[in-house]
Amino acid sequence: MTNSISTSEENPPEEAFSGDMDAMDLEPKEDLDRASSYAAKSGMLICGRLGFGTQSTVFMTDRQSAIKVLNREIHYARERDVYLRLKQQQITKVGQFSVPRLLGCDHELWIVEMTVVKPPYVLDFASARLDQPQDFSSEVLADWAAAKEEEFGDAWGEVRAVVWAFEEFGIYLTDVRPANICVRV
Ligand SMILES: Nc1ncnc2c1ncn2[C@@H]1O[C@H](COP(=O)(O)OP(=O)(O)O)[C@@H](O)[C@H]1O
Ligand SMILES: [Mg+2]
Repeated sequence: MTNSISTSEENPPEEAFSGDMDAMDLEPKEDLDRASSYAAKSGMLICGRLGFGTQSTVFMTDRQSAIKVLNREIHYARERDVYLRLKQQQITKVGQFSVPRLLGCDHELWIVEMTVVKPPYVLDFASARLDQPQDFSSEVLADWAAAKEEEFGDAWGEVRAVVWAFEEFGIYLTDVRPANICVRV
């Protein structure tokens, strides 16, 4: 299925990809080629790169949408499933933070298309867990919170509140960093 949305029930990511993740990867494909084939199916053009991270490259289209090209199927499945949850709950904002809206996805190209957002925003759900709270000890959580407070400075209170707000929707953010939770420009 292309450029359409399927439910996580049709393709549960965890069950589908248990086992050796590396063996599940397809041949590496060039990100821009994949973005261009996705865009071409809807008559869109790629007009620049919005950003990149450890799991993807994100391109801008001439329809002001963002095309996130993921490098592993498990990350694609996680990202897509969180966006499906957000769409189901009609969430485009959490507190003051904008959240991109899902526009489409492609299971073969490992692409998620979404709206472009401006700070403050929360994005990047490639490592997020749905309905799976992490079971860390209080010491580990305290160390994590101290490291994040150092990283985010004065904004940490606001960031921690938005992380908790996502948990209300069953979305557990694991990659909490300024590039993904952007408080201001
Ligand atoms: N929808 C979007 N709107 C605006 N900027 C975006 C959007 N998606 C991604 N970006 C930019 O691209 C960067 C990488 O995207 P991200 O989803 O974090 O990828 P990765 O999972 O590889 O870290 C982000 O930090 C942000 O700067
Ligand atoms: Mg990121």
